[in-house]
This record gives sequence, structure tokens and C-alpha cells, in this order.
Amino acid sequence: MMHDLDGKSVLVTGGANGIGFGCVREILSAGARAATIVDIDEESGELAVKELTKEFEKSKILLVKADVTKKDQFEGTLLGLQYMGKDKGGKGGVIVNISSILGLQEGVVSPVYSATKYFVNGFSRSFGTPYHYDRTGVRIITVCPGFTVTPLSSLLEQSDANFLIPDLRRLFNKKFNNTAKQLAKKVGEDVVTSIQKGETGSIFNRWKVSVAKPIPKVRDAIKEKRGGKLTHDVLFHQDNAPSYKSYVTMAAIYNAGFEILEQPSYSPDLAHDEEVMSAVNEWLADQSKKFFLKGIQALQHRYEKCINLSGDFVER
Ligand SMILES: NC(=O)c1ccc[n+]([C@@H]2O[C@H](COP(=O)([O-])OP(=O)(O)OC[C@H]3O[C@@H](n4cnc5c(N)ncnc54)[C@H](O)[C@@H]3O)[C@@H](O)[C@H]2O)c1
Repeated sequence: MMHDLDGKSVLVTGGANGIGFGCVREILSAGARAATIVDIDEESGELAVKELTKEFEKSKILLVKADVTKKDQFEGTLLGLQYMGKDKGGKGGVIVNISSILGLQEGVVSPVYSATKYFVNGFSRSFGTPYHYDRTGVRIITVCPGFTVTPLSSLLEQSDANFLIPDLRRLFNKKFNNTAKQLAKKVGEDVVTSIQKGETGSIFNRWKVSVAKPIPKVRDAIKEKRGGKLTHDVLFHQDNAPSYKSYVTMAAIYNAGFEILEQPSYSPDLAHDEEVMSAVNEWLADQSKKFFLKGIQALQHRYEKCINLSGDFVER
């Protein structure tokens, strides 16, 4: 079922920056009547309103300064249920909670953050069950973004919680360099898709959609084209990039009954192999300035392509 955003009004907590701001912009672009930004940071909020009024009528945007952790100022999902719930005289609606990919897989450099995101998933899925939906008419959906470039992500880069994890900086750099990054606009688009099409209790995970989805299709194709093969072992050979090795992808491989073929990483960036790294560095040291200039110049059209694709993956 498609739920139209036309004429609807939305409230976005943390809407002054990063993902929240990306959500407000995409939700208004999708036809919402009005958006209220609830944020603790008034200065950023005013800048956000200024930016949004370049594209949308000022009357469509309201800024409310509030701390969402203070019960006397805000009550999150529970407040939404109280005001929108049909059982409380409301009209029903939808609540989208922003979790993280780290609510679906381990977070080696962020155990506590990961735990809070597992909480968000459990809480939203539980309130998203048919029992609650039938009562309240409020769909509860969780969006699990991957690494997104925002003010928060740059704060994480400076994080210094070494007292918890002695190797924090090295592990963070390794994880950071190997992780695909997206722009907040993408999360805004995912939130719009979730509002329009998401079932109550569902978890939206872009990586699952883009990477794990083809795996059952591979199984169907093997069944069709190589009858009998599935009853023998199927070894699945795939790239080693982090999104392919995510928990959801590995679960899809397991569910398809495939065995994963362990292999070394193709790219020295992923391998972190000292021998390969020093051979590559030696080779690079032998190259002329012209070689590097050409490489840097070739990046320009990729940057442009990446901007046009709103930060999506650019292969060439
Ligand atoms: N950036 C990422 O890589 C990433 C990935 C997955 C999930 N997330 C999640 O997305 C959400 C937003 O993250 P972001 O990266 O956009 O962060 P951000 O810091 O860029 O923006 C957060 C906004 O929330 C506001 N805020 C903070 N505390 C508040 C409070 N108590 N009351 C009201 N407003 C408050 C801030 O002022 C800011 O405007 C977070 O829940 C984060 O865990 C982020």
C-alpha cells in the first residue's frame, strides 16, 4: 500500500543538522504540507530554516527549540502514539525511528552506541507489531543508515574513548577507510520511501536492499539452470568489501544454504597486509609527478558523478 505524503505534516527531531535536516528537506520535496524541526541547537535550527526557505515557503517550516531527552519538553515515540493513536482519539500516522546499521551488526569501535541502536530496533519492532498497530493506527518503522557524512560523523573521527578501547584510533581508521559513506540526502530519501511504503514493524536497511537482495535470486537461478546442484554444496564467492560482509548479507547467504568461500582481499586498502602495503608504497615512490597529477585530475569527473548521484557508489 502506498501512503501519500501530500498534505501531511511531519515533526523531525534533530532536524537542524545532518540526517534530520536531510529528512526535512526530502519530506518537504515529497509534498508534505508542513515540517516542524525540534532541535536543542537554536542557532543551527535558524540556519536550517534559512536554507530550507530557499526551496520551500516559509509558512511550511516551524522551528521549536527543545531537548528531546527532557520529559517535560518531549516524549518521542510514546508521545507520538499518545497524540496520533486512534485509541486516544487521533487519526493514526507513522513514526520513523532512526537507528543505524550498527543496530544490526557488531560495532567494534562503538559497543555502547551499537547497544543503543539495538534498543531502538527492538523497541520500534515491538511497538510496530500488529497488536499495537490495530489499536493505534500508527505504523512504526526503523531506518538503519550506514555511515553518513554529518557533523556527528566528524565528531566521531575525533573521539578519544581510549580508556574503553586501547586500539580505538587504529580500529576506527581501519573501519572508516573501509566503509562506504553516504550523504544525509540518501537517508532522507530512505525515510520518505519508508513513510510511503514501509510496513509497520519493518526495518529499512539500504545495504540489505542493495546487497543481500540478489542472493535468493542466485539460488532460484541455480535451481532453474542447474537442477540438483543445490542438494550438493554451493560455494559462494564474493567480494570482500564491508557491505558484502555485513551481518545481513552473511545471513542471506546462510539462509540460501550457501557456504562462503574465504578469500584474501583484492585491494591493498582492504587487505591491510604489511607486505603488500610496502610493495605498493615502493612502487608509488618510483612514479613521476605527472603520474600523480593525471590521477588527481581524473578524479574530477568522478567527484562530479558522485555529487550528481547524491553520494552513491561510483565505480569509474
Ligand atoms: N552520521 C552517521 O553516520 C549515522 C549513521 C547511522 C545512524 N545515525 C543516527 O542518525 C541520527 C542523527 O545523526 P546525525 O549524524 O545526523 O547527527 P548530527 O549531530 O549531525 O545531528 C543531530 C541533531 O540533533 C540535535 N540534537 C542532539 N541532541 C538533541 C536533544 N537532546 N534534543 C533535541 N535535539 C538534539 C543536534 O542539535 C543536531 O541538530 C542519530 O540518531 C545517529 O545515531 C547516524
